[in-house]
Amino acid sequence: MGRFDGRSAIVTGGALGIGGGCARRLAADGASVLIVDVNEEAGAKAVNRIDDAGGIAEFMAGDVAQASVASEMVEKVVSSFGRLDLLVQNAYNGGPDTAGSAVEVKPEAWHTGMDLLVGALYLGAKYAVPAMEESGADPSFDQGAWEGAGRRHGEPPAQNVGRIVNMSSVHGLLTAPRSLIYEAGKAAVIGLTKQMAVDFGPLGITVNAIAPGHIVTERGNEMWNEVGNDAGFRLFELHYPVRRTGVPEDIANAVAFLCSNEASFITGQVLAVDGGMTIQLQENIVMDSKDYIVANPELRTHFDTGRGTSRW
Ligand SMILES: NC(=O)c1ccc[n+]([C@@H]2O[C@H](COP(=O)([O-])OP(=O)(O)OC[C@H]3O[C@@H](n4cnc5c(N)ncnc54)[C@H](O)[C@@H]3O)[C@@H](O)[C@H]2O)c1
Repeated sequence: MGRFDGRSAIVTGGALGIGGGCARRLAADGASVLIVDVNEEAGAKAVNRIDDAGGIAEFMAGDVAQASVASEMVEKVVSSFGRLDLLVQNAYNGGPDTAGSAVEVKPEAWHTGMDLLVGALYLGAKYAVPAMEESGADPSFDQGAWEGAGRRHGEPPAQNVGRIVNMSSVHGLLTAPRSLIYEAGKAAVIGLTKQMAVDFGPLGITVNAIAPGHIVTERGNEMWNEVGNDAGFRLFELHYPVRRTGVPEDIANAVAFLCSNEASFITGQVLAVDGGMTIQLQENIVMDSKDYIVANPELRTHFDTGRGTSRW
């Protein structure tokens, strides 16, 4: 028995990267997964990969910032798999004109960025929550006796009716220069997650956010190959107390836990899955890095793209 047998999930941006890892993991644990993504070719491959591993998945092409797509994906998951239990809201891969301060960013880029980073998550929940309620708790879930602490009375509250996991970032917790759209958007994901947790907790639906550190995905790998080198990658790894950067499976493992029945008392939280990167004091990291950088002047990272964020 997989822990999500009989349940169904939507993973937005599930064709590649972190979303791809989440879709594979939920499917490996028994969920039927609908991948919603703008990249049709990668989406078809992602579905085949899950099929080949013995899982169940379908693909829907669409931009999740559009209300019609958010509503259609919920209709499709219910018509294909009969119910909706899990929603992983992950789609985002930046785009042109997203870098900059408030002075530099153009109003159109601001609106487009916010529509995807934040608006899509509102839309996803808007249509998914009623479908989760309609589906009810997974039929195999046994509530057991509602007793304990000597004070419990009446009917037990709804539990395990649904799970929403929103992808924030360490950029939602800490702030990089000239990144207004991404940092404001990912911070807003955390606020939105708390609001949804309060609103949907009484329905038995938990809502949590994950803040990944640097996760090397297919696209990230390409970027590193283009502009980075081994010494630069090592510098990145040295920033992490665990001395490595992450892989999509690291995030998928956390998503699967938050989606499980074991996590039913966890809601409104932001879980940093970042190898400890956000717990360190910056001045120590800077000074520790100094010696390494001086010893490795040839190092290159994906920051060496000319889009530099620093001002001396
Ligand atoms: N990779 C990292 O280091 C990292 C770190 C922190 C947070 N994150 C967050 O994790 C999420 C996934 O990032 P990733 O690195 O896996 O990105 P990625 O580029 O590898 O994959 C993103 C996927 O989302 C899809 N997508 C983009 N816009 C879409 C839209 N409008 N509608 C539907 N699908 C769309 C893309 O086609 C792609 O398949 C993002 O929210 C990102 O901000 C990533």
